Amino acid sequence: MYVCLCNAVTDKEIAQAVSDGANNLSSVQNTTGAATGCGSCKRTTEIIIDQCLAEKLINAA
Ligand code: FES
Repeated sequence: MYVCLCNAVTDKEIAQAVSDGANNLSSVQNTTGAATGCGSCKRTTEIIIDQCLAEKLINAA
């Protein structure tokens, strides 16, 4: 699903960025371009990052 319409970034691309080591909004913005336009997707992007980070912690345990 598209999360960021300004830059055509999907939830899978955000998840991949987190999987590749991005661990905050700034690093996901740098790697995917999400939330670097109008900003309306910023909160949703942060929620997806948090969910992905939580899954990483659970899978690492
Ligand atoms: S929808 Fe993501 S920056 Fe505008």
